[in-house]
Amino acid sequence: MKEIILTGDRPTGRLHVGHYVGSLKERVKLQNSGRYDEIYIMIADAQALTDNAEHPEKVRQNIMQVALDYLACGLDPEKSTLFIQSAVPELTELTFYYMNLVTVSRVQRNPTVKAEIQMRNFEASIPVGFFCYPISQAADITAFRATAVPVGEDQLPMLEQCKEIVHKFNSVYGETLTDPKIVLPENASCLRLPGIDGKAKMSKSLGNCIYLSEEPEEIRAKVMSMFTDPNHLRVSDPGKVEGNPVFIYLEAFSRPEHFAEFLPEYSGLEELEDHYRRGGLGDVKVKKFLNQVLQVELEPIRERRKYWEQRLPEVYEILREGSRTAREKASQTLQDVRHAMRIDYFENDNLLK
Ligand code: TRP
Repeated sequence: MKEIILTGDRPTGRLHVGHYVGSLKERVKLQNSGRYDEIYIMIADAQALTDNAEHPEKVRQNIMQVALDYLACGLDPEKSTLFIQSAVPELTELTFYYMNLVTVSRVQRNPTVKAEIQMRNFEASIPVGFFCYPISQAADITAFRATAVPVGEDQLPMLEQCKEIVHKFNSVYGETLTDPKIVLPENASCLRLPGIDGKAKMSKSLGNCIYLSEEPEEIRAKVMSMFTDPNHLRVSDPGKVEGNPVFIYLEAFSRPEHFAEFLPEYSGLEELEDHYRRGGLGDVKVKKFLNQVLQVELEPIRERRKYWEQRLPEVYEILREGSRTAREKASQTLQDVRHAMRIDYFENDNLLK
């Protein structure tokens, strides 16, 4: 069986370091591992419209931004098919058939949907389209016969719901769809990077993100303003490492080479953390180190982004060509689905028999 990846992001803003460690970095690693036969990376504009119906311009403007972030991180159009969701209308048709295999109460129990409904104050007025997006996400995954879906842990309930749809479809209509596996990042602190203000999640609306396109001076200013242990008032005070954003970022980004180059007096992160816990290590010193680490990690990404920013017509062609390839793949699956459901009336004359 072919090994196939499908994943994607909603184009509602530029991507940030939380996206990077939570998912983009892993994708690039999987892309370059050579273990996958096909890789599809989707800009989920149709899904973004489920809660931005009145702001299509916001979604539209972020399509190129997300494409640039993808290329900046090292997704390679020679190895991965980058495409736009709405350019593959087959996904909508699949969604419509899958809707019959899911109950309203099942979607209501989906923890991600629950949390998002709350976050958007949708309680009394949930758009039907928004409510159905887990089903459309199952269409995205199955249309490409994905075996692996690399995403952040917040997407776990979506994958579970997708698997249920696959099993239900296959048991009602016969083995047709491929059962996908979720692929989570290995490093536990990468599962969810908090905002620079210490809030649980980086989000544009909270203004607590470090973007992949950020300039060096902005990165430095954001790192130096980061929330740390509020009880670590004097350098000599013992400090808390657990839940401290500065250390969570170091766990996600720092490598032994960074210590050798910038903090040779420490053998590694463990020794730095021990010192912080004991007291005698100031926040400013740790933040300066984190800034150095982030500068080293983000520079090549920013430079690659600038390279592609100079070549927007090429990026546009990459998306156009990718969307064409993606559409071909999805229409194959849709054919199989229609065949399994026996609604492929004009592919044969069985209806007359
Ligand atoms: N829900 C994802 C996000 O919030 C985007 C997405 C849409 C997706 N369809 C998908 C991710 C299919 C993985 C697989 O960014």
